[in-house]
This record gives sequence, structure tokens and C-alpha cells, in this order.
Amino acid sequence: MKRYHAYADVTFDQSGQETRVTKHHNQLELHGIGRSAAVFRINGTDLVIKVFFPGFTHIAAEEHIIYDKLHGLPQFPRLHEVGANYIVIDYIAGKTLFECLTERIWIDASYINQVDEALHAARALGLTPSDVHLRNIILSPNGRIYLIDLARFRQGQHVDHQWEDLKRMYRLYRLRFMPKRYPARLLNAVASMYRRFINDPRH
Ligand SMILES: Nc1ncnc2c1ncn2[C@@H]1O[C@H](COP(=O)(O)OP(=O)(O)O)[C@@H](O)[C@H]1O
Ligand SMILES: [Mg+2]
Repeated sequence: MKRYHAYADVTFDQSGQETRVTKHHNQLELHGIGRSAAVFRINGTDLVIKVFFPGFTHIAAEEHIIYDKLHGLPQFPRLHEVGANYIVIDYIAGKTLFECLTERIWIDASYINQVDEALHAARALGLTPSDVHLRNIILSPNGRIYLIDLARFRQGQHVDHQWEDLKRMYRLYRLRFMPKRYPARLLNAVASMYRRFINDPRH
């Protein structure tokens, strides 16, 4: 019996690049939206449900496999339930590194090291982490780092170098005279150019 099945009945409206949620269960609160899914907090729990957009539902099963492999590692949420178009995982309180940059929250070198450790642990389990970027990394209030959005950790796929590139940018960020806060629009514009001209697998 799937406990959260009814919550996955979410409707979306897609216009151009953007997808909006048009209807969801009243026990859910929209928490974040990505390029493949909407993430909701489930009232009265410490869980979120990630409901995939039509056309992306196959990713639920892919993330399931990755979460099973990473089971027990402290830098990843735990998986609680999987359905045809959704996964239920721990809610991670905190800010994504993207939000840290827009809200002027200092990104310490120790956080970067924690990401490296998490990726190292995932590789040791035979995975090939990819798609590691600012919105997929959460800094918790006690200074711990969690990685989310794991479909592209699977083996044998196109591996990108986003995390290595971000670490290069981090060297600039740390310089005393560099700004510590960036408008979301600027970060989105840089991310979009990065995807188009640097990280496109067709190039
Ligand atoms: N377990 C979680 N705890 C807290 N916030 C989350 C969690 N999972 C996702 N989010 C938020 O929802 C956003 C979208 O989720 P994500 O899994 O990255 O979806 P997508 O595959 O569409 O990129 C994230 O950038 C983050 O802000
Ligand atoms: Mg994401």
C-alpha cells in the first residue's frame, strides 16, 4: 500500500520553458520547482514529495535506483516511497547554494569539501555523479551539506564537469574584493549561457 500515492495527483501547466503547478493536494505546500519536477512539503511530516512533470516521470525510477545505492550515507536524504511519477524523501531544512549566493550567506570552503566527500563516497559505490550544481546542494542550518536531485549519478551516462567548473569559480568568489551576493537573474543568465555554450553534450 502506497501511503503518499494520492499526493502525487498534481496538475501542471506548461507554457514555453516554464512549468507551473495548477492543482495539488491540500496537505502539500509547494517548496521548490526544478526543470523536471515540483517538490512539496507534506504537512505534519519531515518529508517532501517530488512529483515529476509529464514527460519526466521515468526519472522517478532512475532516482529510486540511485537512492537505494546511497542508502545510509549521511550527505543524502533518505528515500521513503516511490511511485510511477513521484518519490518521497527527507525534507532537508536549509538553503541551496544558489540561495546562499542571492542572500549573501557565506559559502565556506568546508562546505565545498563536504560536497567532494559526498561525491567521493558515491563514486566508491560505483556511481558517476553528474549535474551537481548550486540548486542541487543544500546547506543545513548546522553547517552540513546535502546533495539532492540524483538521477544523473547513474553509471555509464554523459558525465559533465559542472562541479569542477563551479569549484574554479569558487576561487574567485573567495577573493576579498569579489561580491558575496548576486542577483538571481544574473546567476540564471550565467547558468543558461553555461548550459548552452559549455555544458551542452552535443558540443
Ligand atoms: N529533500 C529536499 N529538501 C528540501 N528541498 C528540496 C528537496 N528536494 C528538492 N528540494 C528543492 O526543490 C528544488 C527542485 O528539486 P530537484 O530535485 O532539484 O528537481 P529537478 O530534478 O526538477 O531539478 C531544489 O532545487 C530544492 O530547492
Ligand atoms: Mg535540480
